[in-house]
Amino acid sequence: MIKLPGLIDPHVHLREPGAAHKEDWDTGTSAALAGGFTMVLAMPNTKPPIFDAETLDLALNAAEQKARCDYAQYLGAGPDNAEVAAALADKAAALKMYLDATFGQLRLDDMSLWMPHFEKYPRHYPIVAHSESRSMAAALLFAAIYDRPVHIAHISLKEEVLLIKAAKAKGIKVTCEVCPHHLFMVSQVSEEEIGKKKEGRLEVRPRLATQKDVDALWENLDVIDCFATDHAPHTLEEKDSDNPPPGFPGLETALPLLLTAVDNGQLTMDDIVSRMYVNPKKIFSLPDQPETWVEVDENAEYEIRASRQFTRCGWTPFEGWKVKGRVRKVVLRGKTAFEDGKVLVAAGYGKNIRKQEKNEGLY
Ligand code: NCD
Ligand code: ZN
Repeated sequence: MIKLPGLIDPHVHLREPGAAHKEDWDTGTSAALAGGFTMVLAMPNTKPPIFDAETLDLALNAAEQKARCDYAQYLGAGPDNAEVAAALADKAAALKMYLDATFGQLRLDDMSLWMPHFEKYPRHYPIVAHSESRSMAAALLFAAIYDRPVHIAHISLKEEVLLIKAAKAKGIKVTCEVCPHHLFMVSQVSEEEIGKKKEGRLEVRPRLATQKDVDALWENLDVIDCFATDHAPHTLEEKDSDNPPPGFPGLETALPLLLTAVDNGQLTMDDIVSRMYVNPKKIFSLPDQPETWVEVDENAEYEIRASRQFTRCGWTPFEGWKVKGRVRKVVLRGKTAFEDGKVLVAAGYGKNIRKQEKNEGLY
């Protein structure tokens, strides 16, 4: 049996308000506990998106009633909410900027709309950028010009990890995360067809990449600050439709997949703890969770099955994968929150970790 700290996932989509048929704060945070996460940071691309005091309240009220693990809610950067978002910063996980097309309406194309956010959002929180390839280079330039922390969400490409490495060497305040699906899966379509051919259930943003990209992520693991799931549940019916929305569920599969990589000698336990606890806590200025830990049976071997998951979406891209390592028990603030396949804390036990916080920040 191995004891880990309560894990932190800085990138989840919980779909409430607006799409509880995919997931809600109850099912999503139950999935988190089952996956060994005791704190999740929820993305703002809900319906409506979270971008001001009123919409933040919508999400936080639902969370207060339903969440079973601790949480904070992101604000989304819109075309005209820089001042409002900056004023709400202490109540939010951080600011999310969508610089490339993905699920939801929050994309900001025109760089002049990025500027007020980079000027105004308090520097002791990162701006989290969904920015792929050359937009990621633009986000790094913004971090340098405005001399403020930027956290690049879900990197997937060789060119991205190499450029972040170079930016870090120059002292640019950049951190980044990678998702298990980009570490363990390769695109099923040829390199030329990526982005052109439909990928059905395997549609995800950023898209699954090539073997060369996956290899580069593994070779540059020291550049990667966090493992984040980008838990993005859509129902099987939606995924199997003619126009499948992008996104994979990931909360319940991340730790077993990473523990399997430890068993294979690709990772160490320290790699996991630094990227799923120490670094996210530092980057996002997250508080301690006293009397909180996860017990893992590192020898349990089994196959991943969607039918055993708590997420409402009803599927996983890792169906049938053989893994080694199971979450046995999760203790959250002194209470057993999950044990042997059962969630044991009530809806509403989860706390908003930004409720009273005043933060100093990483820089
Ligand atoms: C996410 C979603 O469904 O909300 N989809 C995805 O493919 N990752 C949006 C996002 O994080 O880009
Ligand atoms: Zn996401």
